[in-house]
Amino acid sequence: MAKFVIHGRKPLKGEIEVSGAKNAALKIFPLALLTRGTIRVSNVPEIEDVSRSREMLTALNYEVKKIKKGIFEINPPTGGQKKFELPSNLVNKFRASIMFVGPMLASRGKVSFPHPGGCVIGAGTRPIDLFLDSFHKMGAKINAASNYYRLTAKKLKAADIFFSKISVTATESLMMTACFAQGETTLKNCALEPEIVSLAEFLNSCGAKIQGAGTATIKIKGIKKLRGGEYKIIPDRIEAGTFAMLAAASNSGPVLIKNCVPEHLEALWNLFDKIGVNYVLNKNSVKIGRSKKLLSCDVSTHEYPGFATDLQSPYTVLMTQTHGSSLIHETIYDRRLLFTDSLTQMGANIIMADPHRVVVNGPSKLHGRKLVSPDLRAGVALIIAALLAQGKTEIDNIYQIDRGYERLDERLRGLGADIKRLA
Ligand code: EPZ
Repeated sequence: MAKFVIHGRKPLKGEIEVSGAKNAALKIFPLALLTRGTIRVSNVPEIEDVSRSREMLTALNYEVKKIKKGIFEINPPTGGQKKFELPSNLVNKFRASIMFVGPMLASRGKVSFPHPGGCVIGAGTRPIDLFLDSFHKMGAKINAASNYYRLTAKKLKAADIFFSKISVTATESLMMTACFAQGETTLKNCALEPEIVSLAEFLNSCGAKIQGAGTATIKIKGIKKLRGGEYKIIPDRIEAGTFAMLAAASNSGPVLIKNCVPEHLEALWNLFDKIGVNYVLNKNSVKIGRSKKLLSCDVSTHEYPGFATDLQSPYTVLMTQTHGSSLIHETIYDRRLLFTDSLTQMGANIIMADPHRVVVNGPSKLHGRKLVSPDLRAGVALIIAALLAQGKTEIDNIYQIDRGYERLDERLRGLGADIKRLA
């Protein structure tokens, strides 16, 4: 199994570029099921989850052509038998495979698939009830047996849908699916993430009639067809925030984080003000300088524009280097703090109060260890801890990290990090 070998305590300085957003890219490939004509998408991060998404489209007889680095052209099938089943070997690999269900149901009238896989960050398997309830409201018949689902709908009809929980992918999926429902659909209690706004803008450029993306209420008028189009993936705010916290924690900069959208991370800069991080925001970049004394600060994860749950793991590592106690409250998922056990093994002083809360006391000297990456965000947090630690760390199961970060080791070496990938 591939692993990273890291020798910590090297000063980190220089420039690092942010890639296109994983959680935007993973919505564009499924969208191709709804459009007639070519989709040309650029700034695509070359990460494992995107590869799985491309493989899914290819398995459905779509042509996904790589034009050059980060640029792909997607063309609908020109013949061959229409498929209605999503390949289990791919659906099991990533949660975002759920994004293919709605467009398949809307464009082909039926779809069957196993329960999606991906990061084990919620209790048991991550639920899809919000999707199934909404498709049912739009007239779909749902047959669910032992974690396998068969959905059919001759013609979807518009509906008023109130999401009982704020969900990013449920908002995006129903926004796409409702484009092909008869009448006007209203989605309420929607997620507000920038990736949703960007997706709606692209859909509207292909002929959709979507209003209100980025607010809690989205209205979608049903249309007959969507044309293809050109789309540039927005920068990955989670990657930008993660690099900013790495630079703040190593406190050896300056580090310039380029090609990002600082206003997508206001919750983080708000925390940086309280912690005392020396940073400068520019239009498309952030500079992290050396800070005097970093102070601990409590945080609660929250839906956008609150503090993102995907930034919680790196933040928890940062809090092992600040002065004082901090309460980390993970409100979205109930298995996303389990990785703190690895930090404690490295020498951190962390008390788990319950599955949603830990108290971090700092600063702590961290020491290198043999570790395993449990999932994407915890994996990158362990890399940050290893870069701060005395001595050598080995991190196994790095496929989890490659799922969401493009050539991360190479880019970190660009800042002076001593990190090697061993196949
Ligand atoms: C998206 O996941 C992101 N993934 C996640 O990023 C991110 O953590 C999450 O939004 C929250 O910001 C993608 O966009 C591919 P949710 P999503 O549905 O949409 C519950 C990463 O590391 N829920 O917003 O799957 C759910 O259990 C990943 O990049 C239901 O109860 O997350 C959770 O508690 C991890 N029923 C809450 O809603 C449902 O049907 C929010 O989850 C769906 C969700």
